[in-house]
Amino acid sequence: MKEENFRAVWWEGGKIALLDQNQLPQRETPSFVDSVEDLADAIMTMKVRGAPAIGIAAAYGVALAAWGKEDPQASALRACDLLARTRPTAVNLFWSLQRMRDVIARSGREDMGPEELKKALLEEAEMIAQEQDQADRLIGKHGASLLPAGCRALTHCNAGGLATLSFGTALGVIKTAYQEGKLSKVWVDETRPLLQGSRLTAWELEKCGIPYTVICDNMAGFAMSRGEVDAVVVGADRIARNGDTANKIGTYSLAVLARHHDIPLYVAAPLSTLDLSIADGGDIVIEERSPGEVGEYRGIKTVPEGAQVWNPAFDITPASLITAIVTEAGVAYPPFAEELGKWAGKGDE
Ligand code: MRU
Repeated sequence: MKEENFRAVWWEGGKIALLDQNQLPQRETPSFVDSVEDLADAIMTMKVRGAPAIGIAAAYGVALAAWGKEDPQASALRACDLLARTRPTAVNLFWSLQRMRDVIARSGREDMGPEELKKALLEEAEMIAQEQDQADRLIGKHGASLLPAGCRALTHCNAGGLATLSFGTALGVIKTAYQEGKLSKVWVDETRPLLQGSRLTAWELEKCGIPYTVICDNMAGFAMSRGEVDAVVVGADRIARNGDTANKIGTYSLAVLARHHDIPLYVAAPLSTLDLSIADGGDIVIEERSPGEVGEYRGIKTVPEGAQVWNPAFDITPASLITAIVTEAGVAYPPFAEELGKWAGKGDE
């Protein structure tokens, strides 16, 4: 496999650089952000997206808000509040902001000067990014061990390096299985309405030289019925205590189809995606995005004037439809609560 040679987000000369995901696959354009307001906009407009990548970008955003300021503590706290209002479903955002708030709180206790605080915030953001990369590689190894030889895996949305840092969770499992010679092809769900599958996942697979076929979301059932899918591997935006999982809209439909065809469905996610404060998926806030994302295609209307449109960005897959949850700490099988509870807060091991 060719090594992936991109990062979704990085710090460069006092600015945040993002590989603008709205420009892919046509243009691999870095976009430089020099204010926390612009970063909030980049997250909301999905220049940077995917649960862990949003968390990493937000951590850099807090460091950016403090950079060059006389009162870095106040600016950093304001940035935490602003960034927490960007996207509600992926818990990694809130997890990451909490880590940055902890650094700010420590600076008060340890009487850090402004320069020390700025440095500590940037170091924490870099650490969150680095830990995600390490988690991705472990998730890849654990997940690949579940796949059969010659596996034809189906994935939805983009849970690749673009959604984390550079390797990915669900796509990390697929990349690792390919490296291990176990994977024969990937079915890539197009992922309406914003096409994260056909634009982003296909771009990553192309870069890695992994064979793939793009399908519209409504073709997955037919591929399964023909015996052409051996496993479904998806990412997650938030996993409740009982294993119910919020992920890109359409994941639930895939899970129902997979169960009907007796195909395993694996959820791959870092421990930072667990939200054990929530008992089940009923308590997960589902982001509803602009109707224009469904009713228009790149500025051209695809519905009659005045059509009602509903655009939930995520759905909940009940734990009962999930074969296993793969994290950097290992593989959890149902019932998930005990294993997830044991891992929570422990980091990778
Ligand atoms: O709306 P998006 O593109 O941010 O949604 C992304 C997903 O649903 C991913 O599957 C999830 O964040 C996992 S990314 C490793």
